[in-house]
Amino acid sequence: MPQTVTLNNVHLTLNSRAGAVAILKGIDVEAQAGEAIGIVGPSGSGKTSLLMVMAGLESVTSGEITVADVRLNDRSESDLAKFRRENIGIIFQSFHLIPTMTALENVAVPLEFKGEKDAFARAREGLVRVGLGHRLDHYPGQLSGGEQQRVAIARAVTSGAKILLADEPTGNLDQETGASIIDLLFDLKEKTKATLLLVTHDVSLAQRCNRIWQVRDGKVTEPASAGKPRKALNMPASAGKPRKALNMPASAGKPRKDAK
Ligand SMILES: Nc1ncnc2c1ncn2[C@@H]1O[C@H](COP(=O)(O)OP(=O)(O)OP(=O)(O)O)[C@@H](O)[C@H]1O
Ligand SMILES: [Mg+2]
Repeated sequence: MPQTVTLNNVHLTLNSRAGAVAILKGIDVEAQAGEAIGIVGPSGSGKTSLLMVMAGLESVTSGEITVADVRLNDRSESDLAKFRRENIGIIFQSFHLIPTMTALENVAVPLEFKGEKDAFARAREGLVRVGLGHRLDHYPGQLSGGEQQRVAIARAVTSGAKILLADEPTGNLDQETGASIIDLLFDLKEKTKATLLLVTHDVSLAQRCNRIWQVRDGKVTEPASAGKPRKALNMPASAGKPRKALNMPASAGKPRKDAK
């Protein structure tokens, strides 16, 4: 199976007023196409930074990083923006929506940039899926934090990105909404065979993933006993649950071994 994310001895050092701060300290990890990886670890351990380098939003200080067959080292900002547009769906709390665009425009405009037909119809469908059909014409400033996060999720999941990076996607949501958003995210991931890298403090959520990466003080370890075995990805298609909510043919579904 092809690897979609490969980090070789990645270091990230950032400068602050107090001097250089080593944030990622020699990361060696690989995620394979179609995997869901739960990323856990204490506050300040480097989880968000790890997603930032994978998205090409932060340049590594040393080491090699390849995502979706693109070696990110030494790419220009415009190359990286193009790489993100084509490959990455970002669900970060701090990844802001464009304040002068409505919820619908925030989701549709990136699709239009990619030259996709029916951008607005698809955007509307994505927003309905995350329960925001009644907020299409609201600007981000007119939405709650959780609603803004759901717009970001709709934007990521309608983009067709093969790699989804999610940073505590349910952090702003009540339990019930959070659970339905996570179901949506996993369903979509199965449908598109995307690779999902999911930062969470929620252990049960991390355990829905195929593997868990534990981040501690800028390093990643993989607890042997945690997460679901890889073979969960290779189950017969008949094991899959129907996914009516996504309006997909049942044959497009992959098995849902992640469900508890
Ligand atoms: N621009 C920066 N300059 C200097 N240090 C930074 C910068 N950004 C982050 N850091 C530091 O890097 C470390 C890792 O931060 P990061 O945001 O990756 O942690 P995290 O694991 O996502 O934490 P949390 O669970 O609280 O979100 C922290 O100690 C943080 O203070
Ligand atoms: Mg973080």
